[in-house]
Amino acid sequence: MAKLGLFATLTTIVAAISFASMSEPSAGDACKRTDFNTELVRDACKAGGQEKAKEVMKAFNKEKGLKSCNDCHTKLAPTYELKPDGLEKYEKLGGKIVKKDDKKDDKKK
Ligand code: HEC
Repeated sequence: MAKLGLFATLTTIVAAISFASMSEPSAGDACKRTDFNTELVRDACKAGGQEKAKEVMKAFNKEKGLKSCNDCHTKLAPTYELKPDGLEKYEKLGGKIVKKDDKKDDKKK
């Protein structure tokens, strides 16, 4: 009987944990990207996930006087897909790009 009680308690705890993590999916979510081209977003994602990336992106936009996220993104949350020239725009504005020598260079110079 004691064993059964323990099992029931464990089941309750496990259920509570999975419920809790299901009910707050936005807090501390990782970034969609796993391969970063910018130091800004890479570092932010590492430090605080997508929420942090959003924060630094907003700050970047403000600093550069940009009006809309859609200047560079075709979609916002949750995928934040970029326009074909999104990264180029970012670079032109003075954003730092991650140098990757081992990455195949498919951009025309
Ligand atoms: C000047 C172009 C530009 C503008 C404007 C811009 N972004 Fe971005 N954003 C980028 C680029 C480039 C990346 C990809 C970074 C990388 O590959 O390291 C990115 C990535 C992101 C990501 C990471 C998403 C993920 O999960 O991988 C978030 C979040 C984001 N942007 C939010 C915003 C928000 C919110 C705004 C508006 C306030 C905005 N961006 C405006 C260029 C821009």
